[in-house]
Amino acid sequence: MPTYKLSINNKKYSVDVDEDTPLLWVLRDHLDLVGTKYGCGIGQCGACTVHFNGTAVRSCLLAVSVIGNSKITTIEGLSANGDHPVQKAWLEHDVPQCGYCQCGQIMNAAALLKTNPNPSDEDINVAMNGNICRCGTYIRIKQAIKTASK
Ligand code: FES
Repeated sequence: MPTYKLSINNKKYSVDVDEDTPLLWVLRDHLDLVGTKYGCGIGQCGACTVHFNGTAVRSCLLAVSVIGNSKITTIEGLSANGDHPVQKAWLEHDVPQCGYCQCGQIMNAAALLKTNPNPSDEDINVAMNGNICRCGTYIRIKQAIKTASK
């Protein structure tokens, strides 16, 4: 089994896994970074969203063998103390209901604001479209993104 050296949340990790192992499995089963959630496993729900060199990606679709020296950020590494503007806005608006999808929502929202600090409602709709929330917290998600963008 090959060894892969990964840079995650500015720390170096080494894992021995098959080349086609999705990053999501590496995070949760090998590195105990369980903030990233398994929802569908086929790229349809967004629960597993992490940042790949700053861009939001679905870690269930990202094979460990293609990561190379790229920088991965998970919800655990988004901020030092949970004080990223998006995280603070999430608390302010009391966004989560069951909470399961929220790490993926936050990671996608943080990536959006990095490239578009002042998104319109339409920009938010387009960017967040693929992140599913069974509890239907979409209105509060949008309000929190608006707050975080101020
Ligand atoms: Fe990756 Fe659903 S678990 S998109």
